[in-house]
Amino acid sequence: MTDHRAPEGLQILPITGLGEFDADSDLAAEIVAAAPWIVDGDVLVVTSKVFSKTEGRMVAAPTDPDERDAFRRKLIDDETVRVVARRNRTLITANRNGLVQAAAGVDGSNVRTDQIALLPLDPDASAARLRTRLAEEHGLAVAVIVTDTMGRAWRTGQTDVAIGAAGIAVSHGYDGIDDGYGNTLLVTDIAVADELAAAGDLVKGKLDGVPVAVVRGMPYVDDGTAARDLVRDLDDDMFRLGVEEALAQGHREALLTRRSVRHFADDAVDPATMHAAFADALTAPAPHHTHPIRFLWIRDADRRRRLLDAMAHAWRTDLSADQKTPESIAKRVQRGQILYDAPELVIPVLTGDGMHDYPDERRNGCENTMFLVAGGAAVAGLLVALSAREIGSCWVGSTIFAADVVREQLELPQHWQPLGAVAIGHPAQPAGLRAPAATDGLVVEL
Ligand SMILES: Cc1cc2nc3c(=O)[nH]c(=O)nc-3n(C[C@H](O)[C@H](O)[C@H](O)COP(=O)(O)O)c2cc1C
Repeated sequence: MTDHRAPEGLQILPITGLGEFDADSDLAAEIVAAAPWIVDGDVLVVTSKVFSKTEGRMVAAPTDPDERDAFRRKLIDDETVRVVARRNRTLITANRNGLVQAAAGVDGSNVRTDQIALLPLDPDASAARLRTRLAEEHGLAVAVIVTDTMGRAWRTGQTDVAIGAAGIAVSHGYDGIDDGYGNTLLVTDIAVADELAAAGDLVKGKLDGVPVAVVRGMPYVDDGTAARDLVRDLDDDMFRLGVEEALAQGHREALLTRRSVRHFADDAVDPATMHAAFADALTAPAPHHTHPIRFLWIRDADRRRRLLDAMAHAWRTDLSADQKTPESIAKRVQRGQILYDAPELVIPVLTGDGMHDYPDERRNGCENTMFLVAGGAAVAGLLVALSAREIGSCWVGSTIFAADVVREQLELPQHWQPLGAVAIGHPAQPAGLRAPAATDGLVVEL
């Protein structure tokens, strides 16, 4: 025979007839009076504004619209622990409880025009207190969820979420459980408290004075979790800043990613990364709209070794002429080892192409200096372009002292000037951001 009974499901019931709340209200008593039909196992979904009103979080505010707006902004500042994003007049913030939402939850809606509502200080505690009173004064074993309305990244529109909870496991994890097809669910963790908050809002609505809903038929356990447990740790948050803010921070910190890295992991650097860094570096400023620099990326291992051996030989010859001891010579030359060991080696050279020719030596010397500093700017740019991609580098001056050897080994035109060498690779240890430099005595205001 056909079973015509409907399957068991949830009921979402509005509590109508609740009056205005204030600091003197006995919330539990008023709820029970308005909804004597509440039974054990129900979940009470309560708009946070109720607690704002009963817990003294309503602030007297000016009624003049401009003054009210300025006052509201000041309240938002006070409630804000971290600014996540700002776009025109919209401010997305995290508050003391880690809740990320517009305007730190400071709300001028559904309150008197001479008031502004702040969120409860500790919505989990608010939920727990109401739950305890319902149990102790009215003998009811229910769960309580405190809600607020929030927008979501990636989706338009707002939904209610749980900002406080007591007596109910706020999430249901399916980690390690097999689905019906035999796939093991790895990261499914359903934020049940948020779903209940949103469900309650379907009957509460925003305008018709129904601040509390009851969800009936929801099987749940109390595992001691609270809404606070639904706040993602900042360290795990892939979106802890708005896009504009993250970009701005990245721009600001680009220079601070660079430091001389002298120990590298063995693996080569992705050629695409090298090319991208070269392309960025070649945007460096240069006189007369020229491109006076070439980056010689020494990729052939034999060629690299021959070049460095020849440079080391010339260096030893110089040091011997300086009467240095063999130990001292060996120690100094050993410092050049980084150029043998680094996964990538780049020799920046100044070609001088585009240099103006003057009839006198003085101006020719100045012209050369001007191009040299431009070359330095390009090399510095390369180091930053690399470090911004988490690639380490160390600019080593040695080819400047062995220009003839470099030109001979690499068969370069006589007027090309090596600007050192850049050892490049993945840092052996993460380099991290450095602090900005102290400017005392180094910036001279005239
Ligand atoms: C033109 C130039 C030549 C350099 N030559 C060497 C070098 O031969 N060996 C070395 O270890 N570092 C060399 N450096 C790196 C400096 O030692 C380094 O920039 C300085 O110690 C500051 O450290 P930082 O780069 O981490 O800020 C050179 C830097 C420049 C700009």
